[in-house]
Amino acid sequence: VGLVVTDPFLVDGTSAQDMPCLDEPQAAAAQAARLAGEPWVRDCWYVAAWGGELQPGATLRRVLLGRPVVLWRTLAGQAYALEDRCPHRQAPLSLGRVEEAGLRCMYHGLVFDGGGRCVGIPSERNLPNLSTPAIPLVERHSLLWIWAGQAGAENTDSIPDAHWLDDPAWVGAPGYVRYDAPQQLIIDNLLDFSHLAFVHEATLGGSMDWAKTPPRVHRLANGVTVEFLFRNQSVPPYLVSVAQFSGPIDRLTRYDWFVDGNILSIDHAIAPAGTLSFDERPSSALHHHSVQALTPESAGSTHYFWSLPRDYALKNDEITQLLHKQVALAFDEDKIMIEAQTRNIAAFDRFITGAIPPDLALMHVRKLMRQRSDRVSETT
Ligand code: FES
Ligand SMILES: [Fe+2]
Repeated sequence: VGLVVTDPFLVDGTSAQDMPCLDEPQAAAAQAARLAGEPWVRDCWYVAAWGGELQPGATLRRVLLGRPVVLWRTLAGQAYALEDRCPHRQAPLSLGRVEEAGLRCMYHGLVFDGGGRCVGIPSERNLPNLSTPAIPLVERHSLLWIWAGQAGAENTDSIPDAHWLDDPAWVGAPGYVRYDAPQQLIIDNLLDFSHLAFVHEATLGGSMDWAKTPPRVHRLANGVTVEFLFRNQSVPPYLVSVAQFSGPIDRLTRYDWFVDGNILSIDHAIAPAGTLSFDERPSSALHHHSVQALTPESAGSTHYFWSLPRDYALKNDEITQLLHKQVALAFDEDKIMIEAQTRNIAAFDRFITGAIPPDLALMHVRKLMRQRSDRVSETT
């Protein structure tokens, strides 16, 4: 069952009393994924972790696209990803120990290199021909990216730009949220900013303009660009303490969603009213460039990596912490709504959606994801 688009405001006559109630969050999320999700795009890179989550000598188990993965970093600092199972008797390698020679399984002591090959065994002189599948991993822009397609088919050129995360001209902090919700409902949320007017009124600050005025939407072959420009707004609550000017302001938001990387890249500027346009901004403008990437954990759960880099007050850690806290509050608001939506889709056992103008960008991305995953399944 896929997404069913009907006329806006369709009333289907079903009464709430007829509906089953799924209280178990994981069962509800899996059911919602079946009803509301698009298939995962496989031939693409996904964020597995922040680079800083993995110190030299550390291991980290994370379920990524339904597959338990061990991320580990050599003592010299190189990061690798392997299926999190030892080929000897299936113990998790994430319970292992990183040594000079590689990652040692702490059940019977076999040692594996970054390619997953067994390179050491305590009891034998001849190495057994044992290996565990390796997952291509690239560390770039403070993120650990893994390739979800067939090993060998990867091309690092398709890793999206996220340089704001480690460019010395920008500063932010790494954020993470885990959702009991299918990734598609979070993508829908990120591609429809009309919800700012309602969900984030007191945090990110959305006047009714966000819901009333459709954005400029540019459909791309690999995603979508969405642009908003609002004039004569108040300073959004999360920026009140850092803005050097009080309202009224102009507010420009231009964001790209890329299917490659499952990532949102948001350029955001505010400046005194009357000074901002789509093409020009004054030097007094306050800039942020948020990066937000999603990776499915399972059909009904999702990893959400985010940061809000800024290009001012670079050395002021207090501002970094303050902004991070404010935006984290806003993302809690999304999480509450999307997880409730997830449980509701499962309880009503349907996802009938009325199409309204702000759905344009998300419908385009849903279509691209379906086409992309169909193409992969035809060639495999
Ligand atoms: S299970 Fe890993 S060495 Fe035996
Ligand atoms: Fe939101």
